[in-house]
Formats: sequence, C-alpha cells, structure tokens
Amino acid sequence: MLENIPDIFLNTSTREFRVLLAIENKMKFYEWVPIEEIANFTKYDRKEVEYMLSILARKKLIHRNILAYEGYRIYFDAYDLLALKAFVTRGSINAIGDVIGAGKESQVYAATGGITNREVAIKFHREGKTSFKKVKVKREHAAEKKHISWLYASRLAAKKEYDALKLLYPVVSVPEPVDHNRHAIVMSVLKGQALAHTKVDDPEWYLEEVIKQVRNTAALGIIHGDLSEFNIFVNPDGCEIIDWPQHVTCSHPNAKELLYRDIDNVLTFFMKKYRAKRDIREVITNIMESCRKK
Ligand SMILES: Nc1ncnc2c1ncn2[C@@H]1O[C@H](COP(=O)(O)OP(=O)(O)OP(=O)(O)O)[C@@H](O)[C@H]1O
Ligand SMILES: [Mg+2]
Repeated sequence: MLENIPDIFLNTSTREFRVLLAIENKMKFYEWVPIEEIANFTKYDRKEVEYMLSILARKKLIHRNILAYEGYRIYFDAYDLLALKAFVTRGSINAIGDVIGAGKESQVYAATGGITNREVAIKFHREGKTSFKKVKVKREHAAEKKHISWLYASRLAAKKEYDALKLLYPVVSVPEPVDHNRHAIVMSVLKGQALAHTKVDDPEWYLEEVIKQVRNTAALGIIHGDLSEFNIFVNPDGCEIIDWPQHVTCSHPNAKELLYRDIDNVLTFFMKKYRAKRDIREVITNIMESCRKK
C-alpha cells in the first residue's frame, strides 16, 4: 500500500501516468510487459520510456523482472493511482485525505469532490491479494489470466458493489454511489458507527429498522450475502448497510441460504447483546414474500 497517496499522486506526471496505463493495458497479454510494447502504446521513444520506468521503479509503482527478458508490471499501488486519476479527471474527486477504514479486502479513504466539493469516501478493493483460489470460491468471480487475477477480481468486486448501490439507493439505506472506476468506488461518507462497536439506546427499534432494510433490498431483487453487525452502521436516524460485493439475486440457487445466514447473524447479535428476540422463520418468510424473483 502506498504510504501517502496524495503526495505520490501530485508527484506523478502525465507521462508517468501514460506509462502506467500502457503497462496496465499490456498486462492482458504479458506477465511482464516488454519495453517495446510500452513504447508502442505510449508513442514515446525507447530512451524516454526507460527514463520514465526508472522514475516509476524508484517510486515503487512498478515491478521489474529481468529473467527471460526485461519486463514490467504494476500492482495495487499503481492501480489505485490510475483509478484516482480517472476520478480527478471526471471531477468526482479533487482532494484525498486519510485512511478512514479498512476491511479484509479493502482500504477506504476520505476525500472531497463533485461540484459542491462535499466529503466522500473512496473504497479501493483489494480482492485477490491472498490466493485467487480463495477469492474464486468466496466471490464467484471468473478466473481469467492468473497473473492479473487480482486485477480482475478487485475490479469485478468493485463493479458488483457499485451496481448494488446504484440499484438500492435511495430506497434502501446504503451509501450514495457517486462514481466507479477500475477497482474503486466513490460514495457518500457513513454517518454513524458500526453496530458492533457502539451501544444503541433502542435496540428493538434498530432491529426492526435493519429487518426493514433487508426486506426493501429483497423487494428490489437482491440479498446482501455478508450481513453482520460489522456491515451495519447506525446513526440517530437509522442505519446504513455497507459492503455489497458478494450480493446475489433472489433467484440465485443459494439466495435462501444466504438470506438465512444474514438474518441469523443479525438476530443472534441482537439477542446476545440486547436480549431482543425475533422468530427467525417468521422474519425470513416475511422477507421472502418481498423477494421479487429476478
Ligand atoms: N462510505 C464509507 N464511509 C466511511 N467509512 C467507510 C465507508 N465504507 C466503508 N467504510 C469503512 O471501511 C471499513 C471497511 O469497509 P467494507 O466493510 O465495505 O470493506 P470490506 O473490505 O469489504 O470489509 P470486510 O472486512 O467486511 O470484508 C468499514 O468497516 C468502515 O469502517
Ligand atoms: Mg465489511
């Protein structure tokens, strides 16, 4: 992970970005992209490409291999920069701040952007950082080329999450989706705190609220698939549900099983922490009635 995205971003020239873009593109065909291919893509001469590569290598934005031939590739750091560049060009971001959250497979930054220069959050997906096999089993993302599996997996995860936010917002209480590029999503900043890390005054009301959000989600045709007290944020007015890359449609063969697990997690949490009880079968039956088959 880059130590300081804002600095690195400001100190990366347009030409360096173009070289990164060339490597990203040619990685579809090469495990290690040869200098000639980078020169072809950028239309810079070889000497200039070599110079840019030396700068990028010093910034640790590219990896070099000289075993069979001299070749280069990028990893998450440069991929983050390319996504940021797209957001900045489109105006959805104009400044980026600190890390405000991290998950098993993501890093979330504070930022500002848009015409009103409002605060937003950028979530960079990091799927495939561990082993791709695990990712495949967990996220059901198709394997493409092994050396860029991390790139496909994280990009697909971000797209899947963004699609869910687009579909659900504002009917379901989720962060407002603002923009999406590569493996990154720009969205509104969460208002409250994770249900797991706070104590609510009126648990019965919040439990009903969460169940209502799950029902509204089902009515739009999807199931979260990874719901827990860590992916539910509560604020004085209600709750927001986050972390959607593994959602499935209501007609997915595992939809019912995933819905059961989601609801079981929520009910178990409320039961253990607040002694707030619900009959799981009743809750599920009620939600299933809303589930519009897609
Ligand atoms: N829109 C947002 N605004 C503010 N903080 C956020 C936002 N989205 C995510 N976060 C923070 O980042 C953390 C990780 O986000 P999220 O749960 O979406 O990622 P993940 O990597 O998929 O998580 P997991 O570890 O559950 O797999 C959240 O717990 C939260 O603290
Ligand atoms: Mg999470």
